[in-house]
Amino acid sequence: MILLVNGPNLSQLGSRDPAIYGTATLAEVVEAARLEHADLEAFNAESEGDLVARLHAARGDGTTGVLINPGALTHYSYALADALELLTVPKVEVHLSQTHARESFRRHSVVSPVVNVTITGAGLFGYRLAVLAVLELQRRATATPPRSPGAAR
Ligand code: DQA
Repeated sequence: MILLVNGPNLSQLGSRDPAIYGTATLAEVVEAARLEHADLEAFNAESEGDLVARLHAARGDGTTGVLINPGALTHYSYALADALELLTVPKVEVHLSQTHARESFRRHSVVSPVVNVTITGAGLFGYRLAVLAVLELQRRATATPPRSPGAAR
């Protein structure tokens, strides 16, 4: 199961600053992600503690990959970064908006150093890309490496 985690204020998508975040609701964002992989559980919370607790639970509940849009926590939550670091499954950070083209505080992510991939600025489609990235990372982790010529059997 792939776990899709959305942080504070993403519950307001649809009516939240549509010029920046688009018009899709959070439910529609989740649906878009599910187009790439049906076995996807969506979790969203407004508070840091609830998000951290969900990530802890993901260590033993069959989660095989994590997509996360931490909202503004991206920019300052070391607690969230520490919780993500504990997870050994593929992890992808996703942002709807192009955070690098916005206010300076949005240009830094404390989460990026502990995830495998960051996708930013692709809107709704970014969530689909994020699922594809998790699937590719899973594939690579399980692929048998080609035997190099001359390698001992
Ligand atoms: C966001 C970008 C963050 O800076 C902001 O606080 C959000 C949404 C995005 O998806 O573009 O809540 O993560």
